[in-house]
Amino acid sequence: MFKTLAIGAAFALALAPAASFAAGGGEQHIEDIAFSFEGPFGKYDQNQLQRGLQIYTEVCSACHGLKQVPIRTLGDEGGLHLPEDQVRAYAAEYFEVFDPELDDYRPAKPSDHFPENTAAGAPDLSLMAKSRAGFHGPYGTGINQLLRGIGGPEYITSLLIGYTGEEKEEAGSILYENTAFPGGWISMAPPLFDEQVEFVDGHPNSMHHLAEDVSAFLMWTAEPKMMARKQAGLVGVLFLIILSVLLYLTNKQLWAPIKGKKSA
Ligand code: HEC
Repeated sequence: MFKTLAIGAAFALALAPAASFAAGGGEQHIEDIAFSFEGPFGKYDQNQLQRGLQIYTEVCSACHGLKQVPIRTLGDEGGLHLPEDQVRAYAAEYFEVFDPELDDYRPAKPSDHFPENTAAGAPDLSLMAKSRAGFHGPYGTGINQLLRGIGGPEYITSLLIGYTGEEKEEAGSILYENTAFPGGWISMAPPLFDEQVEFVDGHPNSMHHLAEDVSAFLMWTAEPKMMARKQAGLVGVLFLIILSVLLYLTNKQLWAPIKGKKSA
């Protein structure tokens, strides 16, 4: 009886409705998106991350910080892989940091972190993609996460495109209706719209494209070493497979005289 129940419960968990679940009273709608970095062989799309950085810089950084992310990691392989001179130029051009030695602000250097930004009361985005696991997150056996990712970037994309246009005022602040946000009302005004950011290579820049690109970038800020981790995992699995085959053959060889006698 208990076993049947347990199996039933495991199945129910594994098959838990993917696209929407209730949290905080509101029904959340999260879209499934096939990001390039999902699955055991998935990789970050370097160009997409670079577009995401541009969107973050031009739009989101007005209110949000990325204080956990060192600027120099923009040059890392497996991520944006920007040349060193571009990283230095980017740091100096876009951000100022407070230097306690100078007791003043100075242009940022690659060794600095992205600045934090608390002026608008907006949360830091460094680890947001991991802290907001979407529908692939807490459910099931983990197979979903392995094949389709943790759903954090899907949540962020759905949030950015999930505004219905409805607004209301509550306790002096304006709230915007959003189909992805738990509870359904968020205090962030819709930050993205079509063609808001222009790319030098003329890449499509509808709101949906921009939302996906910046979400991929935020996945990278939350997990910059994902490629190295997957590679190490694959090497490990390969090694274990080879080891298993060798052990199997050794075992056969060892027992061959005894087994051979028995069957004869
Ligand atoms: C005008 C200021 C402003 C801008 C610009 C802005 N945000 Fe926000 N954002 C906020 C505020 C304020 C909150 C807190 C909302 C709340 O908890 O009700 C927030 C919350 C968030 C959250 C967290 C939602 C959650 O689950 O708690 C994410 C993710 C986010 N913003 C992403 C972005 C991205 C990506 C951009 C750029 C495309 C952006 N924001 C631009 C002000 C801003």
